[in-house]
Amino acid sequence: MLSSNSNCDSSFSWKHAVCAAAFAGGAVAVYKFSKDRLKNRLQPKTKGETDNPYESVALLNQYLAFNYGGPSVNCLFDGPKDGFDFPKATADICVKYFNRDASIPSRALDIGCAVGRASFELAREFQEVIGIDYSHGFVKTCDVLKQAGSMEYEAPVEGDLTEKHTAVVPSDIDRTRCHFQTGDACNLPLNLGKFGCVLAANLICRLPSPTDFLLRLGNLVETGGICVITSPYTFMDTFTPKNKWLGGYVDKNGQEVRAIDTMKRVLSPQFDLVDCIDLPFLIRETARKHQWTVAHVSIWKRK
Ligand SMILES: C[S@@+](CC[C@H](N)C(=O)[O-])C[C@H]1O[C@@H](n2cnc3c(N)ncnc32)[C@H](O)[C@@H]1O
Repeated sequence: MLSSNSNCDSSFSWKHAVCAAAFAGGAVAVYKFSKDRLKNRLQPKTKGETDNPYESVALLNQYLAFNYGGPSVNCLFDGPKDGFDFPKATADICVKYFNRDASIPSRALDIGCAVGRASFELAREFQEVIGIDYSHGFVKTCDVLKQAGSMEYEAPVEGDLTEKHTAVVPSDIDRTRCHFQTGDACNLPLNLGKFGCVLAANLICRLPSPTDFLLRLGNLVETGGICVITSPYTFMDTFTPKNKWLGGYVDKNGQEVRAIDTMKRVLSPQFDLVDCIDLPFLIRETARKHQWTVAHVSIWKRK
């Protein structure tokens, strides 16, 4: 699954093209959850709940397939051999680098948890997992999966055509360890406490102020604990004003700025950079169209 070993150097010559990581596809109908949501069904709503693309039924279905579908749902052809179960892979990295020490709380925070697969996988190791996401629809989906363990969704086939699948949380995971709440990564509650591990997977280039988020991490991670940040660094001004981008521009001195270098500068007072990994992921857009992207994973240890 991991395509190469340590690479924390911004001068890395890119072996992989980062393909079409525009998650903000056209929003279609927005769905709300019914009171009988334990039947694991979504109810259509005619008016949009918000303009957030992550509240759209299209992205909800896409993320359920991405999180729980594995290769059999996400690629029907003899295509890429890796890039499946990305959220599980991020949780596995957290577990691998986490130092089990009595002084470090067995608590994990998954910020931008989407539909929860990484949070559930983190519960294999951590006694308590908190998943936070800005999307109400995603958090409600996490709660349905926590309660019921499974949920139906519709993977896009072609145009309006879809096929039914069921997202299933692996039965050997203690789902009661997970707690989900809506929240803003740039304005997190002050009472979250300390964590042994914070995961921020493909979040930073969707934030209005990624630096504010990075600066908060020192307060969230216990000394000796870790923070795992993954990103394809697809900064776009629809999510992040250009003057807040961590990288992907030429500065006033004519120097190219890369996000990993800005992250090193912002995080280095409180964190040591332990390792970097290239981690591909594949998202099914239709039965015949996919996004294949390589996230850069950086692992940081709290000083
Ligand atoms: C690209 S998705 C990544 C989801 C998941 N971590 C993964 O790796 O598949 C970005 C996620 O961040 C969430 N998000 C966007 N802005 C946020 C914010 N300000 N605070 C918390 N979550 C946010 C979105 O709702 C979405 O679930």
